[in-house]
Amino acid sequence: MSTISIATADEVIDLLREDLAAIEREFSRQSDSSVALITDIATYLIAGGGKRIRPLLLLLSAKALGCTTHSRIRLGAVVEMLHTATLVHDDIIDEADTRRGRPSSNTTWGNSKCVLAGDWLYMQAFHNALEERNFKVLDHLISLTQQMVEGELLQMEKLGRLINEEEYFDLIYRKTACLFKVSMQLGAAITHADEEIESNLGEYGRNLGLAFQIVDDVLDLTAAEDILGKPVASDLREGKATLAVIHALERGTGADREAIRTVLADRSFVHVSHPQILEILRRHGSLDYAMDTACAYAEAARLSLAVLPESEAKRALLWVPGFVTSRDR
Ligand code: IPE
Ligand code: IPE
Ligand code: MG
Ligand code: MG
Repeated sequence: MSTISIATADEVIDLLREDLAAIEREFSRQSDSSVALITDIATYLIAGGGKRIRPLLLLLSAKALGCTTHSRIRLGAVVEMLHTATLVHDDIIDEADTRRGRPSSNTTWGNSKCVLAGDWLYMQAFHNALEERNFKVLDHLISLTQQMVEGELLQMEKLGRLINEEEYFDLIYRKTACLFKVSMQLGAAITHADEEIESNLGEYGRNLGLAFQIVDDVLDLTAAEDILGKPVASDLREGKATLAVIHALERGTGADREAIRTVLADRSFVHVSHPQILEILRRHGSLDYAMDTACAYAEAARLSLAVLPESEAKRALLWVPGFVTSRDR
C-alpha cells in the first residue's frame, strides 16, 4: 500500500509559483487586442483575481507526467481564459452584479459589449491552443465547449422546476466538472501519456469538479457575500434547485416542500425568506448531506491518483481535494 504524503498549501504554492506567474503574464499578453475596449475588459477581468484552480490542475497534471515545455504555460492560460469567458457570459445570463468582490463586467460595460468581449476571449483561447498543433488538445476543448453550452441551456430549461439528483449531477458535470476534467486531460495530451493515465487523471478532474460545484452550491446557501465575492442565495433566486435543496424536497414535510416550491417558482424570497429555507435544510440535515457528498467525490478524486508514480506534483494533487471541500469562497 502506498504511504505517499499529502503536500501542504505552502509546498503547493512554492512548487507552482513561477509557473503560475508565467501563466498570468501569458494571459495578459494574450488579452492584448487592437480594440482598446476588449483589452480594457480583459485587463479588468485578470485583475479581479480568482483562485486559478484550473491552471493549477493543468500544471500539476503536466508536471506529474514530466512536462518541461512551454505547452503547460500556454494551456494553463488557455483554460483560465476559457473559464473567464464563461464567467462573463454566465454573469450576463444570471444577471449577476458582483464577481470576485467587484462589480461584474456586465455591470460596468453592459451586456452587449460583454457578450462580444467574452466571445473574443474564448476565440483567443482557441487561437492560442491551436499553437500546440495537437488535435487531441482541440478535440478536448471543442467537446468541452459543447458540454458547457448544453449544460447552461439544460439548466435554463429546468429553472423554477424541481429536479432530481440525476439531473443535478448531469448539470454540474457539464457546467463545471467537465472543465476540471479537461484541465487534467490536457496535461496528459501534451505529454503524450497513455490512455490509462489520461483516463485516471480525467476521473480525478471529474470527481474534483463535482465536489467543487457541490461546495459552491452549499456556499451559495450559507456564505456571506463579502467573503464569497459574488451574490449569495442566488441559486434559489434564479430558480435553481441544488443538492441540499433536492435532498430537503425528497425528505421534507408537505409544508417544507411547499415553501421550497414557492421560492423556486417566485424566484425570490418575498413569500418565504432565506432563513426559513435554511431552517428547513438544517432540520433535514440537507447541508451536511451535500457536504458529505462533496467529500465523497473529493476522496474518489484522491483514489484516481493511484496510477501515478510518486512525485511532488502527485503530493500536491492529493492536497487539492481537501482545499476544495474546506474553502469558504
Ligand atoms: C466559479 O468558479 C464558477 C463555478 C464553477 C462555480 P471559481 O470559483 O473557480 O471562480 P474564480 O475563478 O475563483 O473566481
Ligand atoms: C458557473 O455557474 C458558471 C459556469 C461554469 C459557466 P453558476 O452560475 O452556478 O456559478 P456562479 O455562482 O455564478 O459562479
Ligand atoms: Mg452565475
Ligand atoms: Mg449560471
